[in-house]
Amino acid sequence: MSEKRPIGVFDSGYGGLTVLRYLRERLPQYDFIYLGDNARAPYGTRSFDLIYEFTKDAVRHLIEDEGCPLVILACNTASAKALRTIQQRDLEHMGRGGERVLGVIRPTAETIASLTRNNHVGLFATPGTVASCSYDIEVAKQSDKIALTTHACPMWVPLVENGEAAGEGADYFVRKECRALMEADPEIDTVVLACTHYPLLLEKIRQYLPQGVDIVSQGPLVAESLEDYLRRHPEIESRLSRGGTCRFTTTEMGADRFGELAAMFLGSHEKIEAETVKL
Ligand code: DGL
Repeated sequence: MSEKRPIGVFDSGYGGLTVLRYLRERLPQYDFIYLGDNARAPYGTRSFDLIYEFTKDAVRHLIEDEGCPLVILACNTASAKALRTIQQRDLEHMGRGGERVLGVIRPTAETIASLTRNNHVGLFATPGTVASCSYDIEVAKQSDKIALTTHACPMWVPLVENGEAAGEGADYFVRKECRALMEADPEIDTVVLACTHYPLLLEKIRQYLPQGVDIVSQGPLVAESLEDYLRRHPEIESRLSRGGTCRFTTTEMGADRFGELAAMFLGSHEKIEAETVKL
């Protein structure tokens, strides 16, 4: 009987913590290991090739060095630009076989139609995710009635990564993008935060969007979808360890800073001891 291992959760930086929080809440019995590639964030303004290479490094590390049977790309940019190629081309050469990598775009796209009241949906994401048209394609597969307006916010991830999410500079950039989105389609009734960093700007986003517009974060959707996935895939579920623990790793040299910001973003009072890893 081979050793059971944790679920790997990956993001370019801090954003995936907004997903991890809900994964731990919904599936508290499992062990998790978080990896933030903070040293190379942001991904969203980089080329397709770089995002793919960086994401592949991270997935390989989680599968081969940490032995994760399942890796969640808690990053829309990586899901849009790298997931399919990794699933189709790289995964079979990693680990001991049968490992799985899942993204966050499909579960989000699947729920959008049930959230809007008037079928006018706005979506904030990184330039990379918007340029990939992944959401346009996935949402169209779910429903032909949704008028989806996607809008790129190139400055939002850098603000979060630099600990400026609550600062005045963030107000300027959040107001600017909210206005632009609502000008593009004033009828929007639901806005999806399709970058896992963006819930860290939620208060400001709420402030600058018109009242009555619903804002959707991905954490709860992804957690629900993973629970369902594990129910349907006992061959993966049976390879997961169940100790309720969580380890935090980052590519940044200052793992202390990661630990402090991570605790803040998770809304946790526990002291987070992060480890620096090399990919
Ligand atoms: N959290 C990542 C996402 O969901 C941000 C990517 C980036 O580093 O720009 O897209």
